[in-house]
Amino acid sequence: MVPRPSDGLVYVSGAWRTAADASVSVFDHGLLYGDGVFEGIRAYNGRVFKLERHIDRLFDSAKAIRLQIPNTHAEVCELVVETCRRNAIHDGYIRLVVTRGPGDLGIDPRKCPRAELIVIARQLTMYAAAASGIRVVTSTFRRNAPDATSPSIKSLNYLNNILARLEANDRGADEALMLDAQGYVAEATVDNFFIVSAHALLTPPTATNLKGVTRDTLLELAATLGITTEERPFTLFDVWTSKEAFICGTGAEVVPVVSVDDRTIGAGTIGPVTARLVTAYHDFVRSHGTPIGVSARTAATPATV
Ligand SMILES: Cc1ncc(COP(=O)(O)O)c(C=O)c1O
Repeated sequence: MVPRPSDGLVYVSGAWRTAADASVSVFDHGLLYGDGVFEGIRAYNGRVFKLERHIDRLFDSAKAIRLQIPNTHAEVCELVVETCRRNAIHDGYIRLVVTRGPGDLGIDPRKCPRAELIVIARQLTMYAAAASGIRVVTSTFRRNAPDATSPSIKSLNYLNNILARLEANDRGADEALMLDAQGYVAEATVDNFFIVSAHALLTPPTATNLKGVTRDTLLELAATLGITTEERPFTLFDVWTSKEAFICGTGAEVVPVVSVDDRTIGAGTIGPVTARLVTAYHDFVRSHGTPIGVSARTAATPATV
């Protein structure tokens, strides 16, 4: 089969293959048990945003589940950039997946001798409803407790989040807000959560949610904008009575929340603090990052590393 550039090239099992030819074993424990970790990264303007930070988190997630990534940190960074080059990505989304690799049908990770590293890079797809704001409902499913499957591990098992998202879908909402085991706000299903109170921009501490790269970036940007920030637990009452709220993540960026559990947030439209952060984030991501550069290789030809 002649590889078509439109299929995109995926790095898997140590080689680049067309998306149609890229595959993993049905005995891979990533598939059988969700045993693995992943990252979602964006490229803007020919640069990969916060590449090293994302790869740090990938290695931290892997360490937490005692998964040996088959490449070094520097090699993984280079593979991300090279996958962008081979797919002619200027603005795009990169998905990194590390699975436990093929084993037998039992759960024991010792039967999986070699982890599988996959890198996928796609042209950017825009998210709907971002500008006008989204409607959120609180899920009855609590976010995984830190002493169960820690939310700090960006694992391949997202069923906790998916159950909450199904509930939001059923209730006609755009997204679900998840509480921690104590009833404090944790995060949305694939995004961190912020509110603006009378005093500060608030987000929960990260014991109960993913240590989001976008979250960190926004806390830093807020400081440069002179916006007071606080990382502390808060409740649904604080959310319902907040002046503004938004979700944030690599894919979604910064999305205003205009209603939570049928309570209108603020004026029911994007608030002034959120608007400033949307602009600051938009500008920041487009002017920082690891340059992708130009590949010496052709984008259409699969090749081994
Ligand atoms: C559960 C969860 N929370 C928060 C985030 C946001 O993290 P980041 O800003 O690093 O993309 C994600 C991203 O995928 C996520 O899956």
